[in-house]
Amino acid sequence: MYGRPDPRAYFRRLAPLEYEIPHHAQPLFRRAAAERSALDDGRPRPPAVLDLCCSYGINAALLNHDVTLAEMYDRYTSPARRSMPTAELAARDKEFYAERRLPDAVPVLGLDVAAPAVRYAVEVGLLEAGFTDDLEQGPPGPALTRALAEVGLITLTGGGSYITARTFTALLDGAERPVWLSAFVLRTVSFQPVVRALAAHGLHTTVDTSRTYPQRRFTDERERQYAITAVRALGLDPAGREETGRFHTLHYESRPGAEGTPLPRSS
Ligand SMILES: C[S@@+](CC[C@H](N)C(=O)[O-])C[C@H]1O[C@@H](n2cnc3c(N)ncnc32)[C@H](O)[C@@H]1O
Repeated sequence: MYGRPDPRAYFRRLAPLEYEIPHHAQPLFRRAAAERSALDDGRPRPPAVLDLCCSYGINAALLNHDVTLAEMYDRYTSPARRSMPTAELAARDKEFYAERRLPDAVPVLGLDVAAPAVRYAVEVGLLEAGFTDDLEQGPPGPALTRALAEVGLITLTGGGSYITARTFTALLDGAERPVWLSAFVLRTVSFQPVVRALAAHGLHTTVDTSRTYPQRRFTDERERQYAITAVRALGLDPAGREETGRFHTLHYESRPGAEGTPLPRSS
């Protein structure tokens, strides 16, 4: 799905599952990016946002452009574009996003192991630069190492099950500016090891466990049962959430020395 040269198959596959987490993330990522940009860290260039597990640049599109996730679903599942060559789709997307670019757009970098997806996002102008280093397997290469020096905010949707503390440690080891994190992570996954790695780099993480954000419908009853068991094992209550048929996420925010709701032990 992420190995295709453009995002049409991705959106076609996710439409029936009503994958919606980038929509919920959009206002919170916009707010985090604006607040991080407003922080004077003594550098002349605005801090870059690094979208981790960026795939086709969906979060970058929603952050910097006058566009909604619903419009992106319509665009990439429309019959009119079904047989369009990728090169034509890319050319049209480039124009589309350029026309909708917001005046306060921020530089966005993308990191994802799916090279064709990253390539597309860079080609159509959603990402300033894209990287395919797998930080679960090894250290960042020279290009990503240089880019990390500019990062001031890391965003994440849909990748919490793939990314461990290893990746976050590598990213923060390479940071030269204060880095904030805004991440939506499935309630089926413990984020505690990542929170500890962030704390080792001086980042304090907050989460409001009473507020959840739906990610997508379950594919089948087996997936529903798996999710219910997994959230219970982490001390969370699936009633009204996973029990009703969807994965739910929690929103984690990390900032250097920030104060706020302490992280509950169960999340
Ligand atoms: C469910 S998709 C989420 C894409 C996008 N953030 C969204 O919400 O639509 C998960 C992505 O994580 C990427 N991924 C998996 N393992 C990774 C790793 N070790 N490093 C970076 N990206 C990874 C996959 O290639 C895929 O594009």
